[in-house]
Amino acid sequence: MPDPIYEHPYPTSEALARYPFEPLDHVRYTDAEMRERGTGLLAEMRRRRSVRMFSDEPVDRELIDTAIGTAATAPSGAHCQPWKFVITNDAAQKRRVRLAAEAEERTNYLGERMNDEWRDALGPLGTDHHKEFLEVAPWLVVLFEERYRIGADGERLHNYYVKESVGIAAGMFITALHHVGLVTLTHTPSPMAFLRTEFDRPENERPFVLFPVGYPMPDTLVPTLERKALDAVRVVTADEPEASTPPNPGDSQ
Ligand SMILES: Cc1cc2nc3c(=O)[nH]c(=O)nc-3n(C[C@H](O)[C@H](O)[C@H](O)COP(=O)(O)O)c2cc1C
Repeated sequence: MPDPIYEHPYPTSEALARYPFEPLDHVRYTDAEMRERGTGLLAEMRRRRSVRMFSDEPVDRELIDTAIGTAATAPSGAHCQPWKFVITNDAAQKRRVRLAAEAEERTNYLGERMNDEWRDALGPLGTDHHKEFLEVAPWLVVLFEERYRIGADGERLHNYYVKESVGIAAGMFITALHHVGLVTLTHTPSPMAFLRTEFDRPENERPFVLFPVGYPMPDTLVPTLERKALDAVRVVTADEPEASTPPNPGDSQ
């Protein structure tokens, strides 16, 4: 296929004169390789589950750092990279986090904060206010969103699309952990303000997710959940030739 001729090529000559650009480092696979890589990743990701029973087996810090490195390749609004991954394997600190999380979750589960609709939605997950895994898992990784930046003169600088950017980075972190055979839980013991105090983070950072990371306990159970089928999550609005037996995300996990 001939290359399309762009009437308005990118980058503009003005941008090129002003800012550095470089050739894209892109790998082009054969059609067969593309299918195999796509379905291979799908099969791998279908096995990803949120885990709530952790072994206390230690995990090399290097594995955590590598997963954070992967997460930090995420795209972000105006390339602000508004994320901070704070990690600890300190037993006393993990205990404090567990106790603080359980205090909030006790109010959620046993107090007034959780209404019946929320309670019903959580029923199949079998969760309650006990969060022992926060102490047992070898690592806690707290992902903070950087709501704004502080400039050289102490002024507030805007970060763009913070939630979207940090959400994407969180997904890539979860994927990276799963890829090396570690497990995690996307944990949000709300409200999570105690994490900013515990980890001594500045005013411009807000806790986004608390990830316990490690290996699953032997014989770990997870709730039996169905994922939506491809037809339920994908809408086609343009004419397209029928794909041959598309993989279905809702197929057995
Ligand atoms: C934003 C977000 C917050 C979540 N918060 C919690 C939580 O606080 N506690 C918990 O046990 N699971 C939490 N989960 C995990 C979900 O319950 C889980 O992803 C869902 O049940 C699907 O299960 P799976 O991850 O095994 O596919 C959260 C997930 C997301 C995406």
